This record gives sequence, C-alpha cells and structure tokens, in this order.
Amino acid sequence: MEQKIQEINNLDELAALYASVFGKNGTMTARLKEMKNLDPDARAALNTENTILRDAFKTRQTELETAALTAQLAAQRVDVTLPCAYEMRGALHPLTQSLSEISAILESFGYALKTGPEIEDDWHNFTALNTPAHHPARDMQDTFFLENGNVMRTQTSAIQIRSMQEDGVPIKIFGIGATYRKEMDATHSPMFHQIEGLYIDRDITMRDLIADVREFLARFFEIDNVELRIRPSYFPFTEPSMEIDIKWHGDKWLEIMGAGMVHPNVLRNCGIDPDVYQGFAFGFGWDRLAMLKYGLDDIRKFYDGDVRWIRNNGF
Ligand code: DAH
Repeated sequence: MEQKIQEINNLDELAALYASVFGKNGTMTARLKEMKNLDPDARAALNTENTILRDAFKTRQTELETAALTAQLAAQRVDVTLPCAYEMRGALHPLTQSLSEISAILESFGYALKTGPEIEDDWHNFTALNTPAHHPARDMQDTFFLENGNVMRTQTSAIQIRSMQEDGVPIKIFGIGATYRKEMDATHSPMFHQIEGLYIDRDITMRDLIADVREFLARFFEIDNVELRIRPSYFPFTEPSMEIDIKWHGDKWLEIMGAGMVHPNVLRNCGIDPDVYQGFAFGFGWDRLAMLKYGLDDIRKFYDGDVRWIRNNGF
C-alpha cells in the first residue's frame, strides 16, 4: 500500500485512495471496527499499520502540494530581463533647445533678454523705426493689419524701441519672440520667430558689432574659423545697413542676419541724443538658425505639433 501511495502523482487520486482506506466504507476503517476482536499483538500491529499508512498519506500529500506550488510559481514567474513597455520620453522643441543655446551665448556677452507684445501699434512696429506711413520700406514686410489699426508684429525690432523707452541708455539687450507676415512656403511661415540684438553706449562701433556677431555664430554653430561676408543693404532703422552671410560647410554663403548702426532718428524717437550715444542692432530668424544647426528643412514643421517629426530629427 505504501508503494501505491508513493506512486500517485496527483492530489485528487491521492484523496480518492485515502477515502478508500480511511473513509466511511474504507478498508482500514472496517478493520479498525473489528479491532476489539483481535488479540493484543494483532491489535498493536494494526495500530502501527494504521499510523504508518496515515503518515504515508500525509507525506505524499505534502510532497504533491509542494510540487504543485513550485510548478505554479514557475509558470507565473516574471522575467525582469524582458524589455518593458515603451515609454515616450519628453524632449525640448528645437526652438526651445536653440533658444537656450542662443541665450546662453548672448547672456555671456552681457546681453539681457527682453520680450514685447505680439500685437503692436503702428508706431512701435514701423514709425519709431524710421519707417513712417507711406514709407516704401513698409512694403518689405507683408503685414497683417488689425481692424483697429494695430498690426501683428512683423519684426522683433519693435522690442528695441520698447526697451530703449523703458530702460534708457546705455543698453545691451536681445529681444526674442514671434513675428507675423503674410507668406507661406517651406522656408516661410505666417508666424515665425526673430531674435534681435541692440547695444547702445557712447562709443559702440561696427567693429563691436562684427566681433559679437562673429563670436556668436562661431559658438552657436560650433565652427572654429567663421568666415563672414558683409554686404551693404538697406533697412530704414540702421545707417549704414548690412546683411551678414556665413560661409557654410566651406563652399556656399548663407545669409544669416540683417544689421547696422542704429539710425539717429530711431534714437531720437526714443528720447536718446544721437550726438552722445550710438550703437548697433542686428536681427535674424530664430527658426532659420535652428533649421540650419539641426539640419531641418521645412519651417512649417516647427508648428505642426507632430511629435514624430521632432523625434525623427533626433530630439
Ligand atoms: N527687422 C529686420 C527684418 O525683419 C531684421 C533686422 C535688420 C533687424 C537689421 C535689425 C537690423 O535690428 O539692424 O527683416
């Protein structure tokens, strides 16, 4: 019988066998009932047999339960080395990323960050910048006019005016923000961003302008020997005015920014005496600089909110 118990491999069969031995009609139950008819030796032998059998059942039951539990644990085991569910990591937008790089450089040169309203009045956006009504230079910028005569800021140059009015001179700031023009293709978006530098003091010259621009571009694009090309240009708010190009990958010139010495009329419009103070301003497309640095090809993608585009471009 003990041999038989040992060979049973599942708990149900064990329970059935147990019942056939110790149950109401079990073989051992029947023999125990007849125990009173046995002689003392046979009684003792039956008692021993009874105990051994119960122990054998108990032992086998424990073995089978342990085996079942072990099997269950093995089946439910969590493999901690499996790859986990994919979590999307957050990333900075290329404009945010480039702004933190640009700000770090300009602030290290002593420029302080400034902002201004995106809805501007005509005076701050044009007139104070030496571009009075009917000035032909207004045509350079396809403007969104609001019904009350205000405009969607076409250039961050408006921030120059507000800063000079608020803070006076000497002043060394960079203005950042969204700008708006009626144009749209792969390199133009009706809403884009500009960054504007302004440095006015008693003896600021074009050498200071070129030095700052060169060092800024060298650091931002991480180029050792920046080659610049400075072309005469026209902006109503600077005299002389220029456009600055950078030698790109050693073979072509890319236009990077407009700049110049702030026009005396602009200083006067902000209550600054141009016989005492002078300085420079420069302005560039923030989106464009980010596109160049990170190799992006369509300005409109900045504003689509498509996370896949940002991630595909390594952000
Ligand atoms: N505001 C000009 C534009 O949007 C860019 C610019 C040119 C800004 C020359 C300046 C500057 O401050 O000096 O085209």
